[in-house]
Amino acid sequence: MTQQLYVLNGPNLNLLGTREPEIYGSTTLDDIHQQMKTAAPTAEITFRQTNSEGELVDWVQDASKAAEILIINAGAYTHTSIALHDALRACDARIYEVHLSNPAAREEFRTTNYVAPCATACIAGFGARGYLMALDAALQE
Ligand code: DQA
Repeated sequence: MTQQLYVLNGPNLNLLGTREPEIYGSTTLDDIHQQMKTAAPTAEITFRQTNSEGELVDWVQDASKAAEILIINAGAYTHTSIALHDALRACDARIYEVHLSNPAAREEFRTTNYVAPCATACIAGFGARGYLMALDAALQE
């Protein structure tokens, strides 16, 4: 059976490649999508990015219905969104949290995390490779 995977990306991640490359690296979100497709050619990967909190909540609800695995980098909504937290709590997919940087080692406001309590695992600080690490882990569980 084809494995159904959602990969959801929150605000400003469309700017990857040019946004603060010293923190987030030079790999674009499209590069990450291509690398994931190459790494898991038999999986069906729904890969999306939005700057809107409500849209992200809608997509978590979609993932709950359509996928076994949800890999999510919620960007700044990680640190602010109770709506996202509630959607993730209600989500039936297995959740893997990804961050390119390590938010725990940055500003104080990034230590609040509404995603982590809902996730099976969190991969942070490995740059774009974190998405592939999450994919690898998710497919083996
Ligand atoms: C991020 C970390 C967040 O704190 C930040 O707001 C982002 C990117 C990361 O991938 O390192 O937008 O999620």
